[in-house]
Amino acid sequence: MKLDVFTLFPAWFDWFRTQRHVANALALGHSLETIDPRQSTPLKWGQVDDTPFGGGAGMVLRVDVIEAALRARYGVDPVELRSQRRVIALTPGGRLLDDGLAGELAAEPEITLLCGRYEGFDERILEHFVTDQVSIGRYVLAGGELAAMVVADVLLRKLPGVLGKDESAIEESFSTALGGAPEYPHYTRPAEWRGWTVPEVLLSGHHERIREWRREQSSRRSLP
Ligand code: 6GU
Repeated sequence: MKLDVFTLFPAWFDWFRTQRHVANALALGHSLETIDPRQSTPLKWGQVDDTPFGGGAGMVLRVDVIEAALRARYGVDPVELRSQRRVIALTPGGRLLDDGLAGELAAEPEITLLCGRYEGFDERILEHFVTDQVSIGRYVLAGGELAAMVVADVLLRKLPGVLGKDESAIEESFSTALGGAPEYPHYTRPAEWRGWTVPEVLLSGHHERIREWRREQSSRRSLP
């Protein structure tokens, strides 16, 4: 997968790239590149945003600046780009990210993530350049960067071979392997701590009963 992140703060992603599963994904040939719209802005002094028409607080990312950045990166009119790859704007009001959307996006060969800052995007960016708007929850972050990292994290760890054990992404919380239910509880050594014990069945070595117990725990957790 080729992940491009358009951000005014590319340095934020330097730390993110050092995370084990992200580094694994890059070593496998996937990419996570950042593009700073300030580098290609047609405006003077690196300007990328402007005050909103009609007044009000904050600044808005300009449509001409984002067009220039997308053109410089992909060499096509961004309006055409939409038919070539998913171009996703991170917006607090967008489609809520869940395991289903993550699985859908993980199947894409190339994805572009646009991070907004300040009050957000000029509406024409969303209308004409973008295929999806994605949100990571109903609250407002200061910018899309943390949301883009959440999206990148959840996508990259779904790619084959990225996690240490390949099956660890299959049977986990909210995956279809568990019927969309949360994951079952985990325990490790010590088997007893302050009188708190581990369910007997997990120590039994009885794999069929363990599977059954986990399925039951998982579905019990999904009840309201
Ligand atoms: Cl995608 N962006 C911002 N700025 N805030 C958010 C968000 C995205 N998702 C939840 N809050």
